[in-house]
Amino acid sequence: MPTIAVLSQKGGTGKTTTVRTLTDIFRRLGLRVLAVDLDPQGNLSDYLDVSPDVNPTLGEVLTGQATIQQAIHNDVVPANLGLAEAELMLGGKMGRELSLKRALRGVKDDYDLILIDCPPQLGLLTVNALVASDWALLSAEAQYFAMQGVEQALDVIELARESLNPDLKWLGVILNIADMRTRHSREAFESLRTHFGEKLLDTTVRSSIAYAESAERAVSIIDYRPDLGADYLNIADELLRRLGMPEAQARLGEFVADRMG
Ligand SMILES: Nc1ncnc2c1ncn2[C@@H]1O[C@H](COP(=O)(O)OP(=O)(O)OP(=O)(O)O)[C@@H](O)[C@H]1O
Ligand SMILES: [Mg+2]
Repeated sequence: MPTIAVLSQKGGTGKTTTVRTLTDIFRRLGLRVLAVDLDPQGNLSDYLDVSPDVNPTLGEVLTGQATIQQAIHNDVVPANLGLAEAELMLGGKMGRELSLKRALRGVKDDYDLILIDCPPQLGLLTVNALVASDWALLSAEAQYFAMQGVEQALDVIELARESLNPDLKWLGVILNIADMRTRHSREAFESLRTHFGEKLLDTTVRSSIAYAESAERAVSIIDYRPDLGADYLNIADELLRRLGMPEAQARLGEFVADRMG
């Protein structure tokens, strides 16, 4: 039952879109997926159509006011601004880095996969995600400073591994929101390949306005624009291989073949 944290050093790299789309794809393969929104912005909760009034949310769980079971709504643990408050409260507590890990312990067996959407800072919430996870998946926007962002995120992963979670593994890095017709996207890809080798996924997620549109309409990109959605299907395939989930990978192959008729 792998738990995967999706993170990046900076904002707007496509983390939430990645978690949302992968959650959707893996569920279509019949996997039981828990999506955890670890960002006070609550974008993932929004994308996954959780009502903004829902209660309790992750903030209540981390501050001990609710159990994780109570905070699961349609297999999503949503977040809202209350999570920012919860982060502040946690800050002064012993074992503050372990709160999410402890909370998830109670539901791990109910799911085949847990995906955690991190906020755009490498702070206490992201550290909680790294401590609670088996795998870290980095998202990097195809921009000039992609490399630096990945290196900083790797430093935090290393810290989590040295101190609190020695079993944490690096699943890979996705070059996201890429336009490979431009030189800077190609350069970002090449420099990540040179530095991180096979850790960089072969598939890049192409940049398109269709992502914002599909979010607005609450339609998955794989239905809204199947041509673009193919990127995430390929990402899912690469990830399932890395995770050692051959059965799910085979089902994905069938799913893709079916869609192509
Ligand atoms: N492949 C893509 N091409 C173009 N736009 C994209 C793509 N993926 C996501 N976007 C858009 O970019 C914006 C940021 O995406 P997203 O919310 O997934 O990033 P994030 O890393 O989670 O951001 P934050 O750091 O604020 O949490 C959104 O408007 C989203 O619709
Ligand atoms: Mg986000």
